[in-house]
Amino acid sequence: MKDPAQSSTDHQENPPSASVSTVPLWIFALTLLLIFLGTVYFDHHSGWFNPQIYSPFENEAQLEAYQPKSGSAAMIARGKQVYEQICGICHGVDGMGKPGQAPPLAGSEWVNASSYNRLAHIPLMGVNGDITVEGKDWNMAMAAMGASLSDADLAAVLSYIRNSWGNKSAMVTPEDVAGVRAAIGKNPVPMSAQQLEKMPQ
Ligand code: HEC
Repeated sequence: MKDPAQSSTDHQENPPSASVSTVPLWIFALTLLLIFLGTVYFDHHSGWFNPQIYSPFENEAQLEAYQPKSGSAAMIARGKQVYEQICGICHGVDGMGKPGQAPPLAGSEWVNASSYNRLAHIPLMGVNGDITVEGKDWNMAMAAMGASLSDADLAAVLSYIRNSWGNKSAMVTPEDVAGVRAAIGKNPVPMSAQQLEKMPQ
């Protein structure tokens, strides 16, 4: 048995103490990571506190793109889509054309003609040889890049190019395109600018 006096000195030599250990570093790292992920999530889903914007929309532009559009706004929006998939590859998404690839559509007298007839012939039949656009001569070839589009899609593209990049000309309807397509018939051979100029605008 221990001497009680002895045990009390033991006690004094080794006083009980709460063990102090530092907070593990991973907790800090995890907290920072969660704050970071939270910020990213917030950034993507909040629409910056705009109560009209919530999941799945991330910002005003997306919300706007999903709004039902009526009449010409819907047509222009559709035209932009098709234009950027097909025509924009050569003519540029900014309509400025590309050297050695295609003339500009922005400001072009062919695009902004008083009516749609000559213009609609271009994507439906193709055009090749000398063509002057805004005083500049081009001599290349474009196949019937719009022939496979529906009347509605081609009308949308033509309406879009006639009302973009500063162009302001009348819209083209699907019926307009259907009429030109019927007049061309089943034999689309590329036309020259001279042939186009002989037909009514
Ligand atoms: C593969 C390239 C290419 C694609 C795609 C293309 N074009 Fe063209 N486009 C040309 C070229 C090249 C010319 C000039 C042809 C010439 O020199 O005779 C031209 C000429 C034109 C012209 C007359 C000239 C002018 O600049 O106003 C119009 C209008 C036109 N294209 C519209 C369109 C539309 C609409 C589409 C889409 C449906 C389209 N193009 C797709 C290459 C292209």
